[in-house]
Amino acid sequence: MLKEKGESEQNYRDINVGTIQKFLAPGPFLAGLTRSTIQKLSTSIGLLGFQKKPHNLFACIRHHTTLAATGAVYGPQNPFLDPVIETSWWDFMPGIVKLLFGFFPSIMAWRNLRARARVAAAFKEYFANNGHVEASSLVKTMFEVNTTYGFELAEIAKMEIATCLALLSTSAIATFWTIFHLYANPIALADGRHDILAAIVGEKRNADGKLVRTVDLSLIKEKCPVLYSTFQETLRYHSSVISAKLVLEDMVLADQHYLKKGSTLMIPGPVVHSDTSIWGANANQFDHKRFMRNRVDTSAPNASAFRAFGGGATMCPGRYLSSNVIPALAAMIILQFDIAPISGRWVMPTTTKADIWNALPKPDYDIKVAVTPRKEAENVEWKFHWGISEEGHELSL
Ligand code: HEM
Repeated sequence: MLKEKGESEQNYRDINVGTIQKFLAPGPFLAGLTRSTIQKLSTSIGLLGFQKKPHNLFACIRHHTTLAATGAVYGPQNPFLDPVIETSWWDFMPGIVKLLFGFFPSIMAWRNLRARARVAAAFKEYFANNGHVEASSLVKTMFEVNTTYGFELAEIAKMEIATCLALLSTSAIATFWTIFHLYANPIALADGRHDILAAIVGEKRNADGKLVRTVDLSLIKEKCPVLYSTFQETLRYHSSVISAKLVLEDMVLADQHYLKKGSTLMIPGPVVHSDTSIWGANANQFDHKRFMRNRVDTSAPNASAFRAFGGGATMCPGRYLSSNVIPALAAMIILQFDIAPISGRWVMPTTTKADIWNALPKPDYDIKVAVTPRKEAENVEWKFHWGISEEGHELSL
């Protein structure tokens, strides 16, 4: 289709990625998308502690983050509201590696392809029913770009798979590991819970005498250094990203590495993230306070050595959204719930079966947990919001 219109693929890619970058950069749209995602999470997560049965931690986080993220982006007609589509999406994902290697995909990955076809068909129906008209401006704008470029509904629907991949492939994994590290280490959990007290912006008693505490989750980055550091350390510790960059000019790096124009430079994130000359002698350990500013016992980590979101022109445009939503979700969970593994001990799952293309490795197996309302907060009702309007009103979720 692009060729028929005489457009170059590069030009189209630049416009499409440019649209995503524009919408996901700090500004009113990002704030609205963050608020909408967190509002959905707040509602669904709030009910967790009242279900008596044990939860599979990763599956549970993945389900709630998937519905919240897609709900905020795709609006009321979100195709993922259909459990068949949600399941199909996660059935498709393990097939990506088989498709990448292209080894008889129609035989080796037929189940994954069938699942992908179901998702694409659901998106075709979504666009045919004008679902995008009620969706976020990001989806509306991307639809306009795609129709301007002459794409048919079926093609637009297929391309939505790429957007879902960016939106969904890492967020649940990052949240899972953040929650794991908070609950597996009682000190990190106590630090995190104490930290969030700084983001409480209102306290009053309701008619039943219950203390109602209002938390402004937009203050986490600024006022909750331990919680935010735990999130960043989670990305540093678990990131499996390998960036590939094309060398545009002959150059010599650090007076010793000759890079030839036209060659491909691979930057393996885990190597950079475990370099003791950058991160100190404990680079291989999880230190939930590593990214705290004003630490006196160590120098601040070098920002360019933090590769979890990649770097350069293709650096992840979703980094602001993720950095808003994941710590906020962690805050809502640790304030409201105690979480204990049914096995009695937190054991970090292995990641040997993780998808090699993904920037973060998913756990090989799930952790069965009991989620109960926090005893210490029995008489507290939590209210969450994100930011203050220009008129000075709390912006409720
Ligand atoms: C913790 C969560 C996330 C992590 C760790 C992550 C990581 C990454 C990494 C490593 C890259 C490749 C960067 C490079 O080539 O240098 C990337 C690209 C990308 N990410 Fe994310 N990501 C996350 C969440 C998101 C979210 C929520 C979105 C969308 C809303 C998103 C959208 C994208 C897009 C569109 C690209 C491609 C950029 C391009 O090619 O120009 N990501 N991400």
